[in-house]
Order: sequence, then C-alpha cells, then structure tokens
Amino acid sequence: MKAGELFRGAKTRTDRCIVVAGASGGIGQPLSLLLKASPLIDELALYDVVNTPGVGADLSHISSPAKVTAFLPKEDGMKHAFTGADIVVIPAGIPRKPGMTRDDLFKINAGIVRDLVKGCAENCPNAYLLIISNPVNSTVPIAAEVLKAAKVFDPKKLFGVTTLDVVRAETFVAEITGQKNPAATTIPVIGGHSGETIVPLFSLAKPSVNIPADKLDALTNRVQFGGDEVVKAKDGAGSATLSMAYAGFRFAENVIKAVKGESGIVAPTYVYLPGVDGGDEIQKATGCDFFSVPVELGPGGAKKAINVLKDVNDYEKKLLAKCYEGLTGNISKGIEFIQNPP
Ligand code: NAI
Repeated sequence: MKAGELFRGAKTRTDRCIVVAGASGGIGQPLSLLLKASPLIDELALYDVVNTPGVGADLSHISSPAKVTAFLPKEDGMKHAFTGADIVVIPAGIPRKPGMTRDDLFKINAGIVRDLVKGCAENCPNAYLLIISNPVNSTVPIAAEVLKAAKVFDPKKLFGVTTLDVVRAETFVAEITGQKNPAATTIPVIGGHSGETIVPLFSLAKPSVNIPADKLDALTNRVQFGGDEVVKAKDGAGSATLSMAYAGFRFAENVIKAVKGESGIVAPTYVYLPGVDGGDEIQKATGCDFFSVPVELGPGGAKKAINVLKDVNDYEKKLLAKCYEGLTGNISKGIEFIQNPP
C-alpha cells in the first residue's frame, strides 16, 4: 500500500473518518491499533512525518471494517489526510525524558501543534480536535488561538485529552480499595494535565470510596505525578504510551458515540470554558479560561460543562488553589505563543 493510496482521487471521505496525527509514534501506533479494531470507525487516516506507509500497511491487514489510509508531508499529505476528516487526534511531538517536566516540551511541541491545527483549520474546519501533545495545559490554548485566527473556532469541538489522569485515579484507588474492576468507579479528575494542576476529587467518586486519611496525600500525589513513574521506568525511552493509547481511545470512542447520538456520556476533558454551556460559572470560580471538568458530550461535541467545584471538600479546595496558580501561567504561555510569536 502506498501512502494515501486508498484516498487519492476520492472526492469525499468515507462516513466516519478519524485522523491520527503523530501516528507512527509511541502513542500513535497503539492508539491507531485500537481505533482500527473499533467497529465505530469507517476510515482511519494516519499522518506523521515518518513511517506511516509501514504502519498503515501493517494495520491494513487487520480484518476489521475500517479502511486505513497513510500520509506523509510530501505530495500535500497533510491536506489529503485532513480533508473531510470528522475527528483529528493529535499525539504528535516529543515526549519527556527523566528530569523533564511537561512544560519543558513546550519549545518543540508548541510549533508542531500550531502547524497541525492550522492544517485542520484549512482542511477540516468542522472536525472535532483531540489534543494529546504535551504540555496539554498550553497546547490546547495554542490550538484555540490558531482556530480563532482562522475564524473557525468552535469551542465545543476542541478537547484536551486528560483521560489518562482519570484512568490512573481509577487504577490507584482500586489498588487501595481492592475493587475488582477499577473502571467501574467514576472519579472526577479536574484542572489541568501536569503535576499540581491535576486535581483528583476522591470525595466525589461514584460509588463512594473510602480512602484512609493516612493514604490520601500519597494517593493524590501518585495521580498528579503518575507519569513520572513511567518516565523513570522507561529510563530515557519516553513517557506513557500504552496507557495513554488506551486513555486516548477511550475518550475518542466517547466522542464518536456521542456524535452518533448516544446520550448520557460524561467525561472529564480540558475545554475552553466560556464557549461551553455551563462553563461561565466554572470560569468565574476558577479564574481559568481553560479547565478540565466532567463534560457531557452530545452530537455537537461538548454539550455541558458540569460544575463539580461546589461539592468539593476542604482538602480538595487547597489542591485547587495551587492548581489555579499553575494553570493560569500555562494558559497565558500558550496564548502568548500565537499572539506574540517568539
Ligand atoms: P513519540 O516521539 O514516540 O511520537 C511522536 C510522533 O510524532 C513521532 O512519530 C513523530 O514523528 C511525530 N511527529 C513529530 N512532529 C510531527 C509533525 N509535525 N507532524 C506529524 N507528526 C509529527 O512520542 P509519544 O510518546 O507518542 O508522545 C507524543 C506526545 O504525547 C508527547 O508530547 C507526550 O508528552 C504526549 N503525552 C500526552 C499524554 C496525555 O495524557 N495527554 C500522556 C503521555 C504523553
């Protein structure tokens, strides 16, 4: 299969087309595998600066319904990959090495996300954009600014993927409670996606969980800095990829199901609050324009931001105060990168 072979010459895309931008990477490959295996997808388009023909050929032998197309930048590959796409998931960029924070990635990843989102604005302005590339706290504001400048910004369709924090919270809580199926407990994790900006709300878990007081600090810290465990264990070979692919797939699947009309789907995600119903109230309470909260998803994307802030306990309020401080700076940094380019 040559790059883009299945698509070249076609005037319209197949029904439900999802693009993975950064498809050859540590996250991109397993995420693409999960998407290829999903019966909800008609076409999976792979885009990366390297290796997509190989990844595409490999995935295309899997006997699931989704067609696979693969593109490189040459021969207008980005344009062909993005044109007519329904959803674009972006895990492109460099990952962390030991000793690095997510913010250290900004210098390289900010430009990568800016250029990919420009490509989306030009070729699939109506697509749902799911941003995985770190630092999410800043790359989502970058995406919003690019879309605004192109006059195609629909805040209901722009999502920062913070699902891995939720997945980690579910897993680490179950290690304490002994719950057999960790994912059966819903635990809101709100704020941002980096260190102390990540705020797990164990008091709002459903069904409720009992975390012994002497374990709460360590558990909270583990959710906030769980990514470091993986970076350290991989010892220079990158950050979370497999768990992130699982999390990214879970969120993408939720968006697809909601767009297809399934109701009652709620997932925490990092959104532009003033543009989402219910977001104004949360924006006022947090002072942050971008924030991850449980969002009800619907056919148009983010249907309603759910204000869980009024229900948090004193312990969580203290965590939130630190979150607001860090997050505000991360958001400004992203906006500044587009409004006053370096
Ligand atoms: P990786 O280095 O294995 O893969 C990144 C891929 O992006 C590579 O294949 C590379 O060729 C591609 N790429 C680079 N520039 C590109 C461009 N301009 N257009 C298209 N593709 C491009 O990295 P990995 O481990 O897959 O991580 C990717 C990103 O995801 C990193 O920024 C990482 O920090 C972030 N991440 C986010 C998480 C989250 O919870 N949101 C969790 C874990 C990682």
